[in-house]
Amino acid sequence: MSDTDLPTTVLRAHAEDASAAELAALARADDRPRPPRWRLSPWAVTTYLLGGTLDDGTEITPKYLGSRRLMEVAVATLATDRALLLLGIPGTAKTWVSEHLAAAISGNSTLVVQGTAGTPEESLRYGWNYARLLAEGPTRGALVPSPVMRAMELGAIVRVEELTRIPADVQDALITILSEKHLPIPELDEEVMAQKGFNVVATANNRDKGVNDLSSALKRRFNTVVLPLPDSLDQEVEIVRTRVASLGRTLELPEGLESLAEIQRVVTVFRELRSGVTADQRTTIKSPSATLSTAEAISVMTNGVALAAHFGDGVVRADDVAAGLVGAIVKDPVQDRIVWQEYLETVVKDRREWADLYRACRELT
Ligand SMILES: Nc1ncnc2c1ncn2[C@@H]1O[C@H](COP(=O)(O)OP(=O)(O)O)[C@@H](O)[C@H]1O
Ligand SMILES: [Mg+2]
Repeated sequence: MSDTDLPTTVLRAHAEDASAAELAALARADDRPRPPRWRLSPWAVTTYLLGGTLDDGTEITPKYLGSRRLMEVAVATLATDRALLLLGIPGTAKTWVSEHLAAAISGNSTLVVQGTAGTPEESLRYGWNYARLLAEGPTRGALVPSPVMRAMELGAIVRVEELTRIPADVQDALITILSEKHLPIPELDEEVMAQKGFNVVATANNRDKGVNDLSSALKRRFNTVVLPLPDSLDQEVEIVRTRVASLGRTLELPEGLESLAEIQRVVTVFRELRSGVTADQRTTIKSPSATLSTAEAISVMTNGVALAAHFGDGVVRADDVAAGLVGAIVKDPVQDRIVWQEYLETVVKDRREWADLYRACRELT
């Protein structure tokens, strides 16, 4: 079972629900040692992430397309007393991988702290239900545990999204939790001891560097795994193809509208603009301000499928992707427009088999 079997009313099911059948099949097939409270062995978690065929014939769909070693390092880290930091530019599947790690290891990907400049310490420690606090005084019933505290009690994985956006003094609350593995509650003269199986998967955007850099004390508590951009065109096309197909199923869009050729073209444009040189390495071009991640290519194609399904002739064509493409690339109306125009006139125009794309993009500007 894959995302095809989602309950049809839920727009986006949690990973552990969407992949429940795969996780159950892995648990049955898995005879390797499991770390305390892990639902699966590290081997099975890695198979869940990278896909494979089990002895009983069950197909495990790949969730992450990329280096096996990176995933092994990530999974092995979580079996130690160090936490895991997934680092990378936007759209490199940091959130995606952390959700699937939590689903496979703890069977629960919902313990999440979303890091922002306004994330309070209560999100990492605990807060209070003020009505009950006033009525009862500080009691365990009046205390509102954070996802981190719940994960400690359950012996589960908690995810901290965009860790480096959290103000430095709030981040520091994690230091004690990660080094001492307990969380004092002075108001109750108690403490919460982390159960075995507890660990943290944090994500951070390396473009945010310098916003709130991790303190060195906190950095020492993490193993960092850097998620790279896909290294080849084929690999990136494959990521976009599988994600567009599965998003299309969830959105109940007609299947098979997207052609491989159109995906290849979108991904080529993204890769060329991102790297500042054409695929044949002959022409240097300027890069726009936007990140142009794989995730954006996925949404350009998904928009194209929606346009083709509802307004087109049932096949994704150049004019179905053109608007999304320009929207993804031209984020700054002045600078990016110049970059895009130059690319259009020097690269797209010269490719004979891209004439339809050239025309569709020209019509938009
Ligand atoms: N290497 C990859 N393998 C599988 N999916 C990927 C890969 N890179 C990007 N994606 C897809 O890109 C989308 C965005 O990823 P996300 O986790 O939100 O990015 P991040 O948190 O790094 O900004 C996800 O839908 C994911 O499936
Ligand atoms: Mg993310």
